[in-house]
Amino acid sequence: MDKKLKLAVIGNPISHSKSPEIHQDFAEQFDTKIEFGKYEVTPDTLKEWLDSFFEDGGKGVSITLPLKESALNYADEISDRAKLASACNVIYAKGDKLFADCTDGFGLIKDLEENLTVFLEGKKILILGAGGAARGIIPSILEKNPKKLKIANRTESKALLLKDDLESKVKPNENKIIFEAGDLSNSFLLDDSYDLVINSTSVSTQAGESIGLPKALFSGTKLAYDLYYSAEKTVFMQEALVAGAEKVSDGWGMLVEQGAESFRLWTNLIPDTSRLLDKPID
Ligand code: ATR
Repeated sequence: MDKKLKLAVIGNPISHSKSPEIHQDFAEQFDTKIEFGKYEVTPDTLKEWLDSFFEDGGKGVSITLPLKESALNYADEISDRAKLASACNVIYAKGDKLFADCTDGFGLIKDLEENLTVFLEGKKILILGAGGAARGIIPSILEKNPKKLKIANRTESKALLLKDDLESKVKPNENKIIFEAGDLSNSFLLDDSYDLVINSTSVSTQAGESIGLPKALFSGTKLAYDLYYSAEKTVFMQEALVAGAEKVSDGWGMLVEQGAESFRLWTNLIPDTSRLLDKPID
């Protein structure tokens, strides 16, 4: 019998993760046999867990919260996109080395442009939140040459720091991209309209909670996108629809597409994502 490819997803909490089902679907497309475990791992147990997984013949690991930053410490090589994100969502073995990469930005852009046909070049984009999730996607968005990208965060200083840091690394001004940061006040949020509003805050993980955005924010919005995935529409999506956004989406497509890119890193195979995109796993 062929040996199974040993893969896993780790984080805390982890029980909700759909990664095993997503990668099983990909593997079946190529008749590849995988075992895909789901493990609760904390920053304290991370090193020990990774050592034993890879010593035991493991090939690749999906990394979720709260390990995305700390996992970088255990890789021999870090991709440019993971360096920009200061985080990784995948670690894999190649030869006798461990590689860290970040496929989140890739997954988001693929979902927006190919699945939802919302193209970013020349567009005005607002990102809500300035944590790890925002940092992971902003470099990929800037690469697409939007006209303007604004980061708005409850704690303004965090938005300003993130902007300054990414500005020095990605240099959006060389492409004449207007790049701004501020708080969630009406004066900052409503001084323009946005083709695309992306919620990268962790508010959707707290069921029923609202960011309290002004309704006028969504006038002219083609798409309001929540990075969070949930079976029900998130509060952010519901509020955006009521306030006039043309379309809303959760982050299911991004999750599938970042997974497909991780699968490619592990196997050199590019899976077809359409079946999963049509039919989210409950
Ligand atoms: P992640 O890695 O998921 O981005 P994080 O780094 O903890 O998680 O960042 C969470 C983000 O959600 C932050 O931008 C946070 O705002 P603050 O910097 O002001 O803390 C934002 N956030 C969390 N709860 C929020 C709420 N109720 N309203 C608005 N923003 C919220």
